[in-house]
Amino acid sequence: MAAEEPGYFVRSVHLRSGADLRIKQCDAGDVGCVVWDAALVLAKYLETSSFYRGGLHTFTGRSVVELGSGTGLVGLMASVLGAHVTVTDLEDMQKLLNINISDNKHLVTGSVEAKVLKWGESVKDLPSEPDYILVADCIYYEQSLEPLLRTLKELAGKNSCIICCYEERTMGNNPEIEICFFKLLQTDFEIEEIPLDRHDEKYRSEDIHILHIRRKGIH
Ligand SMILES: C[S@@+](CC[C@H](N)C(=O)[O-])C[C@H]1O[C@@H](n2cnc3c(N)ncnc32)[C@H](O)[C@@H]1O
Repeated sequence: MAAEEPGYFVRSVHLRSGADLRIKQCDAGDVGCVVWDAALVLAKYLETSSFYRGGLHTFTGRSVVELGSGTGLVGLMASVLGAHVTVTDLEDMQKLLNINISDNKHLVTGSVEAKVLKWGESVKDLPSEPDYILVADCIYYEQSLEPLLRTLKELAGKNSCIICCYEERTMGNNPEIEICFFKLLQTDFEIEEIPLDRHDEKYRSEDIHILHIRRKGIH
């Protein structure tokens, strides 16, 4: 008997231009099949900070790699803002990523493509030293911390800005996982927390943090 096709339900994300990004989520599958709150907060931060904060970030023509993209919302937002984006995730997530790229391609002013990237494995097929590396809600299980760090170290050049957004969770061993990740990260990177008043005025929350992360000793 053929496996049953998963059902999709759409999350609309209203853009300042008046259009809507329409992101399909899947009712069967792993954690990447839905839009997490950290992705919404990061996507709207990208939009807000590029349009309305004196151009803190400029995405037009910039190279962007997103890690653990899930549905692809964050990377798609960057491509709507004019960046050349590679969204990445495990093999299983490629179908949903490509559906969402296809469904929203009329809004893209840069470019966007999906590639398989398992953290810790070779990044040779990705743009080297991208201007931005985007990471939403990817710090959540212990075995992934070291490979995720390895990928960040391999990918980030001296001018790359990693923008990482995560939801602070109090359940299980999540607090220890977050502490461990940032401790390891600080060996090679400088971390700047973006204050809440610089997040999007609507899509923000006390327990969702945005960090700018850059290689140490370069600036
Ligand atoms: C909690 S979801 C977040 C998805 C999306 N960034 C968001 O915030 O909506 C974590 C994502 O990381 C991906 N992921 C987990 N382990 C990974 C690994 N070892 N290599 C690459 N991606 C991984 C999952 O497939 C999933 O899409």
